[in-house]
Amino acid sequence: MKIARFSRIGFILAAAGSAVGLGNIWKFPYIAGEYGGGAFVLVYLATVLLIGFSIMIAEMLIGYLGRRDTVTSFEVLAPRHKNFWKYGGFQGLAGLFIMIFYSVVIGWIFNYIVTSLYTLPATVNEAEKTFTTMLHSDFFTQLFYHTLSFIGITYVLNRGIKGGIEKLNLILMPLLMIILGGMFIYATTLGAFSQAVEFMFAPDWSKIDSEAFVIAVGHAFFTLSLGMGAIMTYAASLEKDSSLVKAAFWVVFLDTAIAIVAGLMLFTFLYQYGSGPAKGPGLVFISLPAAFYEMGILGNIFAVLFFLALAFAGLTSSVSLVEPMVQYFIDRFSWSRLRAAVAMGTFFWFLGIFAILSNIDGAKEYLTWGGKNFFDWVDYFTAAIMLPLGGLIMAIFVGFIIPRNEVEKVMRPQLKWAFNAWYFSLRYVTPVAMFVVMLSLMGVI
Ligand code: PHE
Repeated sequence: MKIARFSRIGFILAAAGSAVGLGNIWKFPYIAGEYGGGAFVLVYLATVLLIGFSIMIAEMLIGYLGRRDTVTSFEVLAPRHKNFWKYGGFQGLAGLFIMIFYSVVIGWIFNYIVTSLYTLPATVNEAEKTFTTMLHSDFFTQLFYHTLSFIGITYVLNRGIKGGIEKLNLILMPLLMIILGGMFIYATTLGAFSQAVEFMFAPDWSKIDSEAFVIAVGHAFFTLSLGMGAIMTYAASLEKDSSLVKAAFWVVFLDTAIAIVAGLMLFTFLYQYGSGPAKGPGLVFISLPAAFYEMGILGNIFAVLFFLALAFAGLTSSVSLVEPMVQYFIDRFSWSRLRAAVAMGTFFWFLGIFAILSNIDGAKEYLTWGGKNFFDWVDYFTAAIMLPLGGLIMAIFVGFIIPRNEVEKVMRPQLKWAFNAWYFSLRYVTPVAMFVVMLSLMGVI
């Protein structure tokens, strides 16, 4: 069987499409708001540069050398103890878990694209009512759009790397950048732009505690799609002799730039027309639509375009979240693509129903434990535990397990003088940082 491969630009766009997702446009602004802005943003940026970039290269390298699904890649690259290391590849499961809530949120976005066409809430209170009514009592609307998202994602995955994933990204990523770029330029002409800059970049270190720190590190992983085999699976279909460093650079750059652009734009609109930097997951669904309302008909256009861009970002990430396990069943169990895509899709679709129910009045009581409902637990568990753990495993695997000469053969010509710094960071800096994050999560420190 001839294996379909990404073109070079296709790979960069697909990996960037994976990285740029709801994490950048929905999650990043609201957690930045929640943890006080500037200081949090700086911790996140530092993690992206110091740790994220080097793990991005490491994760690409495992896929690039392994050339197979994540589990097999770990297996063939471990010189000894294959049966132990292959479990590193099961990080791909994290993607399916993330999809449980990710697809539900994409569903909300679909719903907002449709309703923003003809109506926007006049006040924040009204917007809040619309959102919470959907969230707490409208099970069927959520189910309908969640199902639509499941169908779209499964359809693309079934079409494979070239005709599905690459094509989707070649179309949606440029559109996304044009929409956000255009809205950002408009935002820079508004008076409130400087307030947004100040909010995002002026650090108030008193707002950073160990929880904020852990969330910032976890988010850096989440937003770069690291630690769960998405990037690895894509890199397995990369042409030989491609530069991993260049690709990693572009992915990290685009991801960070889009998060900052989206954040600045949203906060500008919120300062200018709305209620200031709102907090919580409702930010883009509550405060933002009310701010758009103030802009008149332009607001409607902006709202539709914005939610479209958000949906594009979400869909390109979704396919990368599911593809590792699809690839796993194709490679290891010789499943057809159709069967693997439908089976994985059904998994997140089904559990997604419980994520919806965990917000619905009358059902949520049964799906809430320790102050978090099922939806929030999946989010917390994947972003704060599974992804850092996956990153830790990958750093150790490339740093200590794959024979050094194999790593050097590929990476030294690309990294040149920076090779030693990269290798050192993988072996010592990243594992220690990840370990501290985990201890603090477990409440040990
Ligand atoms: N990076 C995506 C986002 O920011 C989410 C994601 C995480 C995608 C892990 C793939 C793997 O929304």
